[in-house]
Amino acid sequence: RVEDGVRIFALTAQEGRTSFVAQGDTPTLGYDGTYLGPTLVAERGEQVRVDVTNDLADPTTVHWHGMHLPAAMDGGPYSPIAAGATWHPAWTIDQPAATLWYHHHLHGRTREQVDAGLAGMFLVQDDEESALTLPRDYGVDDLPVIVQDRSFNSDGSFAGGLGMQFDGVLGDTILVNGTVAPYLDVTTERVRLRLLNGSSARMYDFAFADGRQFSLVGTDGGLLEAPVTATDIPLSPGERAEIVVSVKPGERVVLQSHAPDPALNAGSASFDVMELRAAASLADSPEVPSRLASLPTADASSAAAERGFVMSGHDINDREMDLDRVDVIATVDTSEVWTVRNNNPLPHSFHVHDTQFRILSVDGAPPPARLAGFKDTIALEHDREYRLLVRFDDYADPTTPYMYHCHLLWHEDQGMMGQFLVV
Ligand code: C2O
Ligand code: CU
Ligand code: CU
Repeated sequence: RVEDGVRIFALTAQEGRTSFVAQGDTPTLGYDGTYLGPTLVAERGEQVRVDVTNDLADPTTVHWHGMHLPAAMDGGPYSPIAAGATWHPAWTIDQPAATLWYHHHLHGRTREQVDAGLAGMFLVQDDEESALTLPRDYGVDDLPVIVQDRSFNSDGSFAGGLGMQFDGVLGDTILVNGTVAPYLDVTTERVRLRLLNGSSARMYDFAFADGRQFSLVGTDGGLLEAPVTATDIPLSPGERAEIVVSVKPGERVVLQSHAPDPALNAGSASFDVMELRAAASLADSPEVPSRLASLPTADASSAAAERGFVMSGHDINDREMDLDRVDVIATVDTSEVWTVRNNNPLPHSFHVHDTQFRILSVDGAPPPARLAGFKDTIALEHDREYRLLVRFDDYADPTTPYMYHCHLLWHEDQGMMGQFLVV
């Protein structure tokens, strides 16, 4: 609802039971329901407020992943919501149209509660994107695709407690938007899929079973300058991709995940994710536009500082997360160059709160086109150097830090995280 010019959302974190498998109902957590949460949609320029009520027995938090906002609204470990309490973060949406998401972020318990279901999508819209002929009829030709992997115990409960594996839980069952064996009835010639890797540890490489091409139109922080024709799109936990794919009347097409690049050390499983079932007659869709957005040049020459981050084991720069230690102090309205490296043969990624960064280079070379847009999370191949241009706009706060961390949630919980202040 909108009140006095402020768009107000309400989310209640609650317990529930969800029927995924025949063995029995699964105890789950969700927002306003038993598993996952509603898709929130707001316009650039709009003031928003979310009333988050915690109906759980434990404290919780909600973090707005990919959102540019004040540190006190960011929903990290500094904003716990006690059992029974309501938190009212408010901010102005000030970033391009994008597929963002929200999830639980209590220090040390993120894997557990996100896996239980505390996550949802947050879509930002703007005039530039609305003017394009992209599929944008939500639920018809523009669809959220939250991909998660889970395993089940013989009583139907989720399997895989903390500490089961070094990298977290790799499940044997794929859920899309909380559905096992998902399919999508397609009624238009083209559909836009907003893929979110909402898994805690698994890296995917999405591709269609018949190898068909699709257009990659957006990444974490918004649209690319121009669509990229691709046959696969790798996504590590937390990353998003918007793709547009064409179907023919009556056909069935399976979206799969293929083994990720071995350099990511993320295992080698291949499996089906979701089936697209095209209707016998399909409504026309316009062509994907050849220009999508104008992005500022990623110019490192005015960077105010340069810093290095080495990811190794469960540490960043040989240190574990310490809530009492600030690792980086950045100056508001400046950019910095952050060089990130995964120093060991384990899957790691790098996520930065508050900002959308640009990838300047990977081992000295320009990034591939799929990594040239706005990003907030990036998978790190073993022993390569990623140079990121990170911008800290608008919000100075000398006391509340933001976080950067590996987005494999079990690593994050183990302390593979650091804190930065913008002052
Ligand atoms: Cu999606 Cu700090 O996380
Ligand atoms: Cu985040
Ligand atoms: Cu990691």
